[in-house]
Amino acid sequence: MNKVPTSEPGKSELLNDAMMNQRTPLVLGNWKMNTLPEEGRLLARQMAPTIKDGLHRRVDWGLAVPLTHLGLMATELRGHGLMGAQDCSMHERGAYTGEVSAAMLSASGCDFALVGHSERRQYHGETSIQAGLKIRRLQEQGMMAVYCVGESLEQRQSGDYATVLQTQLHEGLQGEGLSLDSSALVLAYEPVWAIGTGLTASPEQANEVHALIRDWLLRNRGPEAAAAVRILYGGSVNASNAADLLAGPEVDGALVGGASLQIRAFADIVLSAS
Ligand code: PGA
Repeated sequence: MNKVPTSEPGKSELLNDAMMNQRTPLVLGNWKMNTLPEEGRLLARQMAPTIKDGLHRRVDWGLAVPLTHLGLMATELRGHGLMGAQDCSMHERGAYTGEVSAAMLSASGCDFALVGHSERRQYHGETSIQAGLKIRRLQEQGMMAVYCVGESLEQRQSGDYATVLQTQLHEGLQGEGLSLDSSALVLAYEPVWAIGTGLTASPEQANEVHALIRDWLLRNRGPEAAAAVRILYGGSVNASNAADLLAGPEVDGALVGGASLQIRAFADIVLSAS
């Protein structure tokens, strides 16, 4: 029996289009609360040329550094990689002692900030709703928000992880006016059980969840967003496992913690994305 052509593309065709789209790979390091400013400067000074010399196709890369490093790092990274912060305030300005606004980050030369990292959720009680406000603040300043989502070990073992991720996506990305452009929003899938533990999701597990996330984007934000938004994998990525993880068709890059503090390891991870 002949297939009847339809004018409306089906969901799987839209998903195929989204998958066909050529997204520029992105590898970000997250230094967390490590290094003093001068050490950081030296690390970046050596990383930048090591990466540049090895690249044979375009890969975007960058480092999310402690706030105290921004001044020095802006000079080191200019013309090489993106500079980012690890968090930002959900408020625009005002009496919020200890907070740093998106406008301040932008004025310090930041290109992006992480939002909703599991360590912020775990140790500082941050919610996806708050992460959503931070994404807004960053986008208002023309910066890229890197929204981190991921399930705990318990949630993975109970088989509930798809619901957990959908809730995080729904709460963090709700509302009108959010930019879903590739330079305004990046998603990072970071299973909590894989962060800093040495346990990594298998390439199949990572790719399966990335496909779930892209499908969520497609159904809730449309084919353009699903095609544009880059989805990074994070959680114990190192120089040995990066190539396999990054080979997944739905994996657009990596968010790297511990290994981003080592020049050769981080450079190798960036290069494996090229
Ligand atoms: P890890 O950290 O690579 O050290 O597991 C990843 C992250 O927290 O972004």
